[in-house]
Amino acid sequence: MATTQVWLGMLPCALHDSDVHMGVIASAPAKVILFGEHFVVYGEPAIVLAIDKRAYAKAELREDRQLYLRSVNLNLSGYFKNGTFKIEQGNAREARSKFKPLKLAVEKILEIHGENIGLNIEVNSTVPVAAGLGSSAAVATAVTAAVGTLLDVKMSKESVFHISYEAEKIVHGTPSGVDSAISTFGGTLLFQMDTGFKPLDVKTDVPLVIGDTGVERSTRDQVLKVRQIRNKYPRVIEPMMRTAREIVLRAIEALKEGDLETLGDLMNINNALLYGLEVSDESLEWLINAARRAGALGAKLTGAGGGGCMVALAQNDRLKQVLEAIKRAGGRPFIAKKTDEGVKIEGT
Ligand code: MEV
Repeated sequence: MATTQVWLGMLPCALHDSDVHMGVIASAPAKVILFGEHFVVYGEPAIVLAIDKRAYAKAELREDRQLYLRSVNLNLSGYFKNGTFKIEQGNAREARSKFKPLKLAVEKILEIHGENIGLNIEVNSTVPVAAGLGSSAAVATAVTAAVGTLLDVKMSKESVFHISYEAEKIVHGTPSGVDSAISTFGGTLLFQMDTGFKPLDVKTDVPLVIGDTGVERSTRDQVLKVRQIRNKYPRVIEPMMRTAREIVLRAIEALKEGDLETLGDLMNINNALLYGLEVSDESLEWLINAARRAGALGAKLTGAGGGGCMVALAQNDRLKQVLEAIKRAGGRPFIAKKTDEGVKIEGT
């Protein structure tokens, strides 16, 4: 039987011709930024890890020209037809804003495909939403891969990344691209806007507990807040940017050496910088302090801040205590497992 090669990076996935019109399921991971969030938007480096929470997307062909989107975890669904959106389930405003970036990703793929066709897309995500773990990028990346594969559009991982990044711009305004990069490529990345990303070969275990404050916030607003403070006090903020860069450079060495104590210290210093930029808040600092008191080597907010998640580093024999302390402090903790798997096709 003839087969079609569908390229996702170095992993060709052979689909039989007869399968091409069936549904395709793809998934992409969430992330935790260890160092450098916000500063990365201004060209500084960041270190980011893919974690074992994933977003899933299923794409199927439709008979008509409509784009039907459904989010199982958000209980939202609706149709885009001739430029207008019709709600089926949930709040129309919320659905439109969640689905708009996905519509853009689909349109980009249809442009390459060269034919306007109807699609059903179902998304299901295990990533907490608006919490700093890159849920929107994981969803956009999974949708891009699922639709691209369904339509037999040959896409490198770079193209998946670029389309996911375009979708992220609709969600966050001026994102650095770090979330789309890690969702696409997985692993541990050193990311910088002008030079791109470089995989970091981290052999050592980096035991992390993530604590979700449960406070949802907008990355766009947090990024804007930093822009305003930077514009107002450029000479004050500039040295902070340089310090953030030095933290990342020192952290690369510490990761190579498996020096968890230094990594913990650097996380604490990084958090102090973020606090100075006013992107931390009471809910985050409460969990960060609880983790430190329970013996974490270091703790900081992760992602955009203003609520969302914090991350603590601890020796393996302290992880449980740190987890319990975050829970007692009112957070929703989980142990984050690093994953090397970026975007992938789960099945057809
Ligand atoms: C969001 O996950 C990380 C930020 O640095 C924004 C960005 O890099 O796009 C706050």
